[in-house]
Amino acid sequence: MTDLSLAGKRVVVTGAGGGLGRAFALAFAHAGAKVLAADINAAGADETADMIGENGFSCAVNVTDRASCTALAESAIAQMGGADVLINNAALYGTLERRPFAEIDEDVWDKVMAVNVKGVWQASRTFAPLLKAAGGGSIINVASATVFSGSPMWMHYVASKGAVIAMSRTMARELGGDNVRVNVMAPGFTMTEASLALIDNARSYGVDRAALKRALETDDIVGGALFLASPLASAMTGQTLVIDGGRQFI
Ligand SMILES: NC(=O)c1ccc[n+]([C@@H]2O[C@H](COP(=O)([O-])OP(=O)(O)OC[C@H]3O[C@@H](n4cnc5c(N)ncnc54)[C@H](O)[C@@H]3O)[C@@H](O)[C@H]2O)c1
Repeated sequence: MTDLSLAGKRVVVTGAGGGLGRAFALAFAHAGAKVLAADINAAGADETADMIGENGFSCAVNVTDRASCTALAESAIAQMGGADVLINNAALYGTLERRPFAEIDEDVWDKVMAVNVKGVWQASRTFAPLLKAAGGGSIINVASATVFSGSPMWMHYVASKGAVIAMSRTMARELGGDNVRVNVMAPGFTMTEASLALIDNARSYGVDRAALKRALETDDIVGGALFLASPLASAMTGQTLVIDGGRQFI
């Protein structure tokens, strides 16, 4: 019988300087993994590693930049001896202004695609050899439930997360022969600092349309990532796990 054991796994989480990324990092550490917290916000990544303690490590990274991703991989090798799991969580999210799709600034559109799409590609292509060298591994890409519902005034973000799902299916096919699984987490609106700053009354936003009549907390989301990285999901690849309190089907 397989179990949820992640003891000794070497996990790299991008965008782990706060919010969901930090929650993923803490959850994997709690499950016995070594965790390298990476973020463009180096102080935030350091803080996450400090919260973890002896199994926590940190590194600054700009996921849009190939050399920076290479430096992150070198850091994973130096600090943990390699990597078994990569969580592509870094994204432009809470800072994005909501605008009708026709009025989104071109430079903002390009920045969203650079971080949310190209960043996932850069980090994945840098870490795939490490995961293969480990005899197999797991990439978990963080998309968004907005891909399935649409989200007005936010087309750049929704488009970027749709691309993440499409890329994940392709990577799953390319990497499956090396026992590297690639799956997607698609959270609904979840209470992070970024979400709370995004709209007024965030805690009640959309709750009336959901099956579960409450706001989603980061603890509601992290279990999906633990499952996807674990032996319990050993035959699961190319899939998208929606955790949204039952909003999408209503
Ligand atoms: N909170 C939600 O409701 C929600 C819902 C669905 C999906 N998501 C996704 O979950 C992830 C985390 O969201 P969050 O709410 O914690 O927001 P957040 O803004 O706190 O997290 C994003 C993190 O990415 C980092 N980052 C940004 N650009 C980077 C770059 N170029 N290189 C490296 N790091 C970079 C930021 O510093 C930040 O720590 C994002 O991918 C977001 O799109 C969030």
